[in-house]
Amino acid sequence: MTKYRRADPEISRRKFINVALGTAGAVGGLGLVTALAGVRPPIRITASKVPAIAGDILVYAEGPDAGKPIDISKLNDKLTHAWPQGKDKTGAPVVRKDEPNNLLMVFKFAEAELVAPTDLKATDKGVVAYSGICMHLGCQVGNNASKPGTLLCPCHSGAYDPRAGCKVIGGPPPKPLSQLPIKIDGTGLAATGPLNAPYYGSTESDWASLLEEAKTI
Ligand code: FES
Repeated sequence: MTKYRRADPEISRRKFINVALGTAGAVGGLGLVTALAGVRPPIRITASKVPAIAGDILVYAEGPDAGKPIDISKLNDKLTHAWPQGKDKTGAPVVRKDEPNNLLMVFKFAEAELVAPTDLKATDKGVVAYSGICMHLGCQVGNNASKPGTLLCPCHSGAYDPRAGCKVIGGPPPKPLSQLPIKIDGTGLAATGPLNAPYYGSTESDWASLLEEAKTI
């Protein structure tokens, strides 16, 4: 699905604005700040691109149940792909699948199998969720058929351990996959906050800006 994607133009735009505003602050020119505020583009993301946030439910990303809420009774130690689903301003449900980096992986392990650096407070009864996009160059991570229980990125053999916070256990990824805090909500799952770290292609400052922007959607 996601192969060698170019840098997200929205992130590039956010970067530009952050740099521009930072420069304006450094020179302390009120006129310049006002001028930049005047040309600041309108909100650049839509509800379908907002990253997972507290209150979103998780829905199947593929298969016959695509778009339906995850059924926790069907989860197991193999990855299940999911999208976060939130609401737009009118309260209508919106699957946030127009941003490929919003793809998630969900697992259910025996609770005792989950170990550090997994954030155990962000799991529920062995259910854990992570970003599904590789932190190296943004390919989609999958099950590792030759080493069951681990995950493999097909692009450059990046490997992750989903029982241990999706830490990197092989290949070139520079960071673990970000973990999404979740809780069991009835028979399904809900996010209790955003990913615990930026997803692929986003810097800390981009990520902070994106989450701020999400509050306005
Ligand atoms: S994109 Fe995943 S290892 Fe390179």
